[in-house]
Amino acid sequence: MRTAATAPDLRREIASLPRPLVLVPTMGALHEGHLALVRRAREAAGDSGTVAVSIFVNPIQFDRPGDLAAYPKPLEDDLEKCRQAGVDLVFTPEAGSMYFPDRSITVTESLLSTHLCGATRPGHFDGVCTVVLKLFNLFQPDAAVFGEKDVQQLAILRRMVRDLDVPVEMIGYPTVRESDGLAMSSRNVRLSPEHRNDAPRIRRALEGARSLLQFGERAAAPFLAAARKHLEESPSLRIDYLELVDAETLQPVGQIRKPAVLATAVFYGDVRLIDHVGLLP
Ligand code: PAJ
Repeated sequence: MRTAATAPDLRREIASLPRPLVLVPTMGALHEGHLALVRRAREAAGDSGTVAVSIFVNPIQFDRPGDLAAYPKPLEDDLEKCRQAGVDLVFTPEAGSMYFPDRSITVTESLLSTHLCGATRPGHFDGVCTVVLKLFNLFQPDAAVFGEKDVQQLAILRRMVRDLDVPVEMIGYPTVRESDGLAMSSRNVRLSPEHRNDAPRIRRALEGARSLLQFGERAAAPFLAAARKHLEESPSLRIDYLELVDAETLQPVGQIRKPAVLATAVFYGDVRLIDHVGLLP
């Protein structure tokens, strides 16, 4: 497995590695969810192609300094996991080498980022778009794999690729879960045992609300009420948002007439977790 920590090193490595090159961008603290994306990348690259992973805790996408400071950085473990997963190339840049101190260009998304995480995390998706476009420019990958767990992130990045003619094939991958249904996340390790125990309720609340579809319900309000009730039964979580949005525009809908998404973010203490379910009318 090759590694690179600077852009010139990366360029040199990429020049010597076979195509197609499929990239999995991450912020490290790798878990089974990330490794599933790596396996999907291998499928897309084939045995003779290149699977690349970037590990970079991108400072400009963090809206809370405490969250950035607390973000786990087990680099040696991550490299070992990549090695075992058959990754060919890992890029581990320092924040100082990714951003000029006087940088003045940012990629801004102005529709899909107005609700859900975008509403409560100002600047977050601009930071995500900017770093992913930079990574695409550095790697010039043929394809890149992203998790559907971050449903808004994936929709926004697909929109960026479309609107800016970025020549990268975008591959989505379904959410990987713990056996009790909790979506895997690098933040799960920061939950107290009591909060970890309670957290599968997020998934159950969303699934429970989704079952209203079977009874012919199409108005948004009962879905939101059912999920909210289940979440609020917990003494220890705080809802950041709970919204029902159109799957393409991510704008709130009052009636489910097209594919929609019921999405939530909750806080356990200062740990923020997200999840969603798709609603097909
Ligand atoms: P990170 O949270 O490390 O996630 C990296 C990739 O793994 C993302 O595409 C995310 O959707 C996916 N992922 C995380 N948990 C998953 C799960 N349980 N199942 C399936 N996929 C999962 O997302 C980011 O980093 C950053 O915003 C990034 C895109 C790297 C830009 O900095």
